[in-house]
Amino acid sequence: MKHEAIEKNVGLMIVLTLVALSFGTLVELVPLMFARETHEPVAGLKPLPALELEGRDIYIREGCNNCHSQMIRPLRAETERYGHYSVAGEFVYDHPFLWGSKRTGPDLARVGGRYSDDWHRAHMYNPRDVVPESNMPAFKWLFENEINPELTPRKMAALSKVGVPYTEEDIAGASAAVAGKTEIDALVAYLQQLGTLLQSRR
Ligand code: HEC
Repeated sequence: MKHEAIEKNVGLMIVLTLVALSFGTLVELVPLMFARETHEPVAGLKPLPALELEGRDIYIREGCNNCHSQMIRPLRAETERYGHYSVAGEFVYDHPFLWGSKRTGPDLARVGGRYSDDWHRAHMYNPRDVVPESNMPAFKWLFENEINPELTPRKMAALSKVGVPYTEEDIAGASAAVAGKTEIDALVAYLQQLGTLLQSRR
């Protein structure tokens, strides 16, 4: 009985289990590494312009992704509520991804264009002014802090090293594009473009 030999030998059992698991993982992962749709940007995808890029960094700094996901699953309940499910090609220029894993608040993958800029500003200043039952924190300091225009071109240059196709022109114009802007300007600009390339709920 060969099987008995395996079951009675823990070392062998562990090795064979690992082989089986690795094989399963390879079968799942390797095809994705070569599938076109996981690498190709969706139609119209462009690297974030300077102000939106700064907004994204504020989103990361403030930990918005601890309460908000940016990943709509292909399930009826999700697509009815948020719009088209997320596809890999929307995220090819994201470093790092902000998919998130916890939804204390709603998913934001397609929040772009859903509210006016004024709504977002009021909501960030004090969420309870527009959504009385909200438990989202207020982010009042974003209205006072200005973007540091010296850093923006350097951030873009760093991203272009990992394959984000910024042009020399984009980088040269970055400081001027963010000069004098507040952090709330940048954050709202970032939110307003989220997920707009595919169809939203409204
Ligand atoms: C402690 C958890 C928490 C954090 C941190 C948080 N939020 Fe929220 N957010 C919520 C909750 C809960 C709601 C739903 C109630 C509301 O609309 O205020 C919400 C709602 C929103 C909405 C409206 C979404 C919709 O579809 O109606 C936006 C936009 C938003 N948050 C953006 C942000 C941004 C940007 C940050 C970071 C600066 C942030 N949130 C940080 C919990 C959070």
